Amino acid sequence: MTTLEMTSQDILTLTREHTLYDWSVQSALSAIPIDHAKGVYLWDTDGKRYLDFNSQLMSVNIGHGDERVLEAVTRQMRRVSFVSPTTFTTDIRAEAGRMLAEVTPANLSKAFFTTGGADAVENAIRMARIVTGRHKILARYRSYHGATAGALSLTGDPRRWQAEPGIPGVVRIPDFYPYRAGAAPDDPAYTAQILAMTDDIIQFEGPHTIAALIAETVVGTNGILIPSEGYIRGLRELCTKYGILYIADEVMSGFGRTGRWFALDHWGVQPDIMTVAKGLTSSYVPLGAAVVSAEIAEYFETRFLNAGLTYHAHPVGCAAAVANMQIYKEDRLIENAATLGVVLKRELEAMAARHACVGDVRAIGLFSALELVKSKATREPLVPFNPSGAALAPANKLKAFLFQHGLFTLVRWNTVFCNPPLCINEQQLREGLAIIDEGLYLLDDLAS
Ligand SMILES: Cc1ncc(COP(=O)(O)O)c(C=O)c1O
Repeated sequence: MTTLEMTSQDILTLTREHTLYDWSVQSALSAIPIDHAKGVYLWDTDGKRYLDFNSQLMSVNIGHGDERVLEAVTRQMRRVSFVSPTTFTTDIRAEAGRMLAEVTPANLSKAFFTTGGADAVENAIRMARIVTGRHKILARYRSYHGATAGALSLTGDPRRWQAEPGIPGVVRIPDFYPYRAGAAPDDPAYTAQILAMTDDIIQFEGPHTIAALIAETVVGTNGILIPSEGYIRGLRELCTKYGILYIADEVMSGFGRTGRWFALDHWGVQPDIMTVAKGLTSSYVPLGAAVVSAEIAEYFETRFLNAGLTYHAHPVGCAAAVANMQIYKEDRLIENAATLGVVLKRELEAMAARHACVGDVRAIGLFSALELVKSKATREPLVPFNPSGAALAPANKLKAFLFQHGLFTLVRWNTVFCNPPLCINEQQLREGLAIIDEGLYLLDDLAS
């Protein structure tokens, strides 16, 4: 029995009767009722333990159940839970803004707080359009930017389709995905080719019509696509050359996930706007932000910022953000992600060598994925793009095995993700990898 005196079956029945699950055919879903969570583990209502190898939605970066966040949030709620964000302000909002400016790239100075990632993206493009007086936004196919109208229009993956025609002015630029192009990850010729195609598209669209380019620094759900240094610097240079604002979507790749505060820090590149959420509060409470450069902030010193939300700069969210940023520092979680990231990459590469079904390993910090193939030689995906029905069978088989063996992670199409909380230790990391390794043997005979 849980604190609400419900059995596991009561929870499932009532959830199904009176709530809608997202991204699902309702009748096809079987969720697991969770009782509590601590560190890298979750326990279901029947007492079974799961190792969280995806930080839920790549978001519980500090790990579950940290009392310091609980204290910070309750302390704030005792003082004041909410104030009108234009008429009043709070010390916790001031501190969250100050800390965010401190940890984000040096040129970023002010945060526009939102309730999550999608509305951070919405407000980023709104500001970019106002500041430049231009309307088009460049975005990629292998991307996810959120589920509100604008963010979903910018999203390249099939989640966009049902929201079409979407907002006007979105223009696609090519992805950076060397493995699918048959290139090596750091092949300069491939980087040059993708940048040249991007430059061409800017020419064809008219640079004076393009407000911004939005890109996940390391693409998340669409496959952990890690840019080459030349590519990420090249994108920045193209934006600067044409007066296009560069929006780095670090909703998933931010807050230590890649072994640095933000993925862009690996290459020393500064965006004009950075969108953040997820690890900002490690999902303890909802909060996001669009953090803007000093130049953009300056623009709004004398001009109206036509944007807002009831829950803008929510004090409870800000309290969770401040506590999280302190925890990243105090517990040296970002250093841990960098150190264990080396172990993770090495072990995943060893797994790729052992398994016929693993075609590629992409890993940076504790942000990583295995790409499953039918053949290492042809690189044909083991599960096709946007599959349904029987085509999903290999992914479902692996997922079921992992759950059965007490491991939760994301298996999406032909990609197996390993993105544990940054507080994981080496023994726990190896525990999770061993389960995945065992599970992959189930798929090896589908590959040659
Ligand atoms: C890169 C990226 N941007 C934006 C979002 C949207 O964030 P939210 O779901 O908080 O609206 C996500 C969510 O997964 C994301 O991964």
